Amino acid sequence: MPLFTPFTLRDVTFPNRIAVSPMSQYLARDGYVNDWHLVHLGRFALGGAGLVFTEATAVEDRGRRTHGDLGLWEDGQIEGMARVARFLNEQGAVSGVQLGHAGRKASERRPWHGETPVNNEDIELRGEAPWEMIAPSAVPYGAHWQEPTEMTQADIDDVLQAFRDSARRVDEAGYDVLEVYAAHGFLVHQFYSPLTNKRQDAYGGDRNGRMRFALEVARAIRETWPGGKPLFFRLSVTDWVDGGWETEDTVELAKGLKSAGVDLIDCSTGGIGAGHNDSFTPRRMALAQGFQLPFAERLKQEAEIAAMGVGFLWDPEVAQAAIADGKVDMVALARELLDNPNWPLHASRSLGKDKDYSFWKPQFGWWLNKRQRLIDKLSLR
Ligand SMILES: Cc1cc2nc3c(=O)[nH]c(=O)nc-3n(C[C@H](O)[C@H](O)[C@H](O)COP(=O)(O)O)c2cc1C
Repeated sequence: MPLFTPFTLRDVTFPNRIAVSPMSQYLARDGYVNDWHLVHLGRFALGGAGLVFTEATAVEDRGRRTHGDLGLWEDGQIEGMARVARFLNEQGAVSGVQLGHAGRKASERRPWHGETPVNNEDIELRGEAPWEMIAPSAVPYGAHWQEPTEMTQADIDDVLQAFRDSARRVDEAGYDVLEVYAAHGFLVHQFYSPLTNKRQDAYGGDRNGRMRFALEVARAIRETWPGGKPLFFRLSVTDWVDGGWETEDTVELAKGLKSAGVDLIDCSTGGIGAGHNDSFTPRRMALAQGFQLPFAERLKQEAEIAAMGVGFLWDPEVAQAAIADGKVDMVALARELLDNPNWPLHASRSLGKDKDYSFWKPQFGWWLNKRQRLIDKLSLR
């Protein structure tokens, strides 16, 4: 049953191939985790996911996307995150943190407050002030967005140090996997995409220059992140814009990341902000179930690195086939798991793997199995 076979990277074995994709909740205060995060993430561990990722977790406070983002920029934030990791690990899931920096997408309102820039109205409404943002170049995300300050070498060094320090905190909090959020138009993606990086120095210009920051982030993290623990990178494989970052560029970046100690590429796409900026016209995404799987398959083959597929996955047969056919090593689900945190347990039953609820925690499975036998005996359903 390919979806439910274990998978090992470095010293970590995932009990199955199903990952909970990072999902921001925008409910932290000053970056600190709370009971919401414990229960939200804990449900997925009880639901049978092999790997549970926290949401995007900021490496410095100005790198938050919203006021509600999680953070690991100070040691005081470790203990709360450790409580979540303990629970996930006790339930048999592998625990992961996604570290990120929003760059020019910082100081944004939560989705349900408009996904627009924070301004002085938010001070009155919620006591939340806008803050200044940094980016590779002074190119705003969209017409009504703040112009970010172009990062100096000192800023770059500071952010690299923040990744190094946060990685140490992820380890101290007891997590097994670290993923860098280098996709969806956030800071690392802003460096590698030609649409957002207009620098003339060693961090800009040709593809090698634009890839440099991502590679330095990977190397910085590997200085503090243990050798036995896997490091993932989430990349936007294409910008979906003519003249933007393309799949062949990602293949080259993935090869470099592999040499820098990265073990798996989490293959997403888009998010650079083309829809917000009149100067680019995004290409249409051909949305369909598993529409991003071919990108992951190409990365796996051409960069010879493990790959995770994500996006519009819900049918266990589709997820299973992607693993069975060797297209990807893992699949990640987000919205389907919000709808049904027990999706992995149901998938194992629908694929014929778990006839007697033995995959379930006995506190649930013992009762469900007993009820099922009664239902079958009396032909009730
Ligand atoms: C509520 C929500 C929050 C998200 N937050 C993040 C995030 O923090 N980091 C990230 O890489 N992707 C984030 N995403 C994107 C998902 O991880 C995933 O890539 C995307 O939803 C596509 O997968 P799906 O079709 O299974 O939902 C978020 C998605 C949702 C629905």
